[in-house]
Amino acid sequence: MLRSLVRARPLRSKPLPRYGQWSSPFIFVLAVIGSAMGLGNIWRFPYLVGQYGGSAFVLVYLACVVAVGLPLMVAELMLGRRSRCTPIYGLLRIAREEGLSGGWSVIGWLGSVTGMLALSAYSIVGGWSMAYVFRSAAGAFHELDAVAAARLFQELTDDPERLLAWHTLFMAMTILVVGRGVRYGLEEAVRWFVPVLLTILGILVFYAHGQPSFDRAVDFLLRADFARLDATALLAALGHAFFSLSLGLGALVIYGAYAPERVSLLAVAPVVVLTDALVGLLAGLALVPVVFQAGLSVVPGPGLIFQTLPLAFGTIPGGQLMATLFFTMLVLAIWISAISMLEPAVTYVMKRWRVERSLAASLVGVLVWSLGVLSLLSFNLWSHLQPLGSWSPLGRGTFFDVLNFFVTGLLLPLTGLLTALFVGWRMSADSSRIELGGGWGYRLWLVLIRFTTPVAVVLLFLHAMGLV
Ligand code: PHE
Repeated sequence: MLRSLVRARPLRSKPLPRYGQWSSPFIFVLAVIGSAMGLGNIWRFPYLVGQYGGSAFVLVYLACVVAVGLPLMVAELMLGRRSRCTPIYGLLRIAREEGLSGGWSVIGWLGSVTGMLALSAYSIVGGWSMAYVFRSAAGAFHELDAVAAARLFQELTDDPERLLAWHTLFMAMTILVVGRGVRYGLEEAVRWFVPVLLTILGILVFYAHGQPSFDRAVDFLLRADFARLDATALLAALGHAFFSLSLGLGALVIYGAYAPERVSLLAVAPVVVLTDALVGLLAGLALVPVVFQAGLSVVPGPGLIFQTLPLAFGTIPGGQLMATLFFTMLVLAIWISAISMLEPAVTYVMKRWRVERSLAASLVGVLVWSLGVLSLLSFNLWSHLQPLGSWSPLGRGTFFDVLNFFVTGLLLPLTGLLTALFVGWRMSADSSRIELGGGWGYRLWLVLIRFTTPVAVVLLFLHAMGLV
């Protein structure tokens, strides 16, 4: 299969990227998959599928992926590979080469800054997950009841010092990988963690398969119930596609900048999106049977991972080992996604101030860490602060909620929209044809990125603002 990802001959020769290059097409694909697989797949996809009609929702999700996810993924990877540069300067360079305004570098700015904002919150959850690896290994979930499970999580989030320690450790791990560079940091992490993660997922599915409630879980996840599909389901699918595919954060632009010249981006993107959806479904098959077995129901987000699952794993035989494996997998998934969130800003600092990668990673990392401190305080000391008051689309939210709302509701769609407009309408079609290699796949992509993607993203945007 790998052969089909590789073109016989590079279309043109360009200088090697300054910050590094993936050593093979396979590693490149693995890296993009690693960035895509993360919290989104594990704590949101199974819930969405169950909530909005099983395989009917999967179909809608795949349609959103084709209309929006795939075209944007190709566009971001292409911008990176064409410029071979950090997103901010890369966009500037491409805009100039195309005779357009340098103002288009705003796409790079939005992506790099949003990546930092997203990471500051993502790291908090990374910290919780690490704490839960130790808790599960120590047998803390044994025979928990619902009240005790809720208390266990609350004890953690109520304690700013503990949260700070975990957040600091998680950021340090992320900085460490990014500071070591593309070959020895990012690439090594991806090479080891992605296979380990997939193996653990396989073990968890196998274990779940042995549970009497497996069939019920399959029914929950896969039986098509078209009656539950409504406009909300469509918008949920669209929003999920953005986050789950790592779009709009500059992550794919910078990963594309390290891509081998002979890889066909039009072939890589479908492999990544299918793997990402499959991982989401497998996560559902691994978790839902366990939850059902304990007589519980599937809820979205942190509640599922940090309350329902400990409770469920605590009641079934072998649960301690499985819970430990699960939280280890979660830490790995968050970690490899986190490095791709930090990389765009780090490469900008390297280029802008001509500093070593390790210093740049530490500087940006400390900035993200500080932002994260604001988030973690919003679970305890500042839990009463509601920065936006009762502004309607969000309701009353803490700093952490507001940040998440801005990132997923506004900044990601905005970057996506600008990217689609730039690549589809402003960049000449000749440029994208050279980068993507022409053919029917290319023509289809051009239609999607010009028409379908912008319309869908505007809808998502209006929805986030509470207007549709
Ligand atoms: N795709 C990741 C997830 O599903 C999140 C992510 C977004 C990672 C953007 C990197 C960049 O959790």
